[in-house]
Amino acid sequence: MATRERQRRFEIVPMKADDLDDIMEIERHSFRAPWSRQVFVEELDRDWAHVDVLKERRGDTAVLAFVNYWLVRDEVHVLNVAAHPEARRNGHASRLLEHVIAFANRHKCRYVTLEVRRSNAGAIRLYGKYGFRPVGVRPNYYVEDNEDAIVMLLELSTPV
Ligand SMILES: CC(C)(COP(=O)(O)OP(=O)(O)OC[C@H]1O[C@@H](n2cnc3c(N)ncnc32)[C@H](O)[C@@H]1OP(=O)(O)O)[C@@H](O)C(=O)NCCC(=O)NCCS
Repeated sequence: MATRERQRRFEIVPMKADDLDDIMEIERHSFRAPWSRQVFVEELDRDWAHVDVLKERRGDTAVLAFVNYWLVRDEVHVLNVAAHPEARRNGHASRLLEHVIAFANRHKCRYVTLEVRRSNAGAIRLYGKYGFRPVGVRPNYYVEDNEDAIVMLLELSTPV
């Protein structure tokens, strides 16, 4: 399928309360210590927080992937990105990252940052493709199993 046709096939829109069941299912399949439903509900009320979902534009409106990020001054911090296990390696996380980077550029941010498990080679590769580089380590960051987090940073061109 041509790239433009594929792009039209999907939409990225702000999460609604109706999406929470789908998000919780992806969350449960994706993380050792999944966040609770309440965490996502609270995000809806924070001015600086965004949870955006990727869906097929038509037909089945199930959430295929989502991203949670915060705008803090000149930085966008990505808290969470995940795709449904049956929808992985289809470019959905890439679409969401491009969406977040475009958001950061529109808001004249200097940085996009995130933490990732040291062992999460797939995610580290994905972020590397978009120019994120490792800039530090937070030892024992993931308290459920004491795994280190790698801090990754994408520097955006400085606004003039
Ligand atoms: C990591 C994750 C978000 C990637 O989502 P995705 O929609 O499958 O990613 P994409 O299809 O956009 O992948 C883009 C590229 O990233 C890299 N990549 C993604 N997953 C990979 C994996 N499991 N192994 C190796 N490389 C991987 C590849 O380079 C891939 O390009 P390719 O498919 O052409 O080889 C998904 O596997 C996931 O939800 N994992 C569990 C949650 C998680 O770990 N989130 C990251 C937290 S920091």
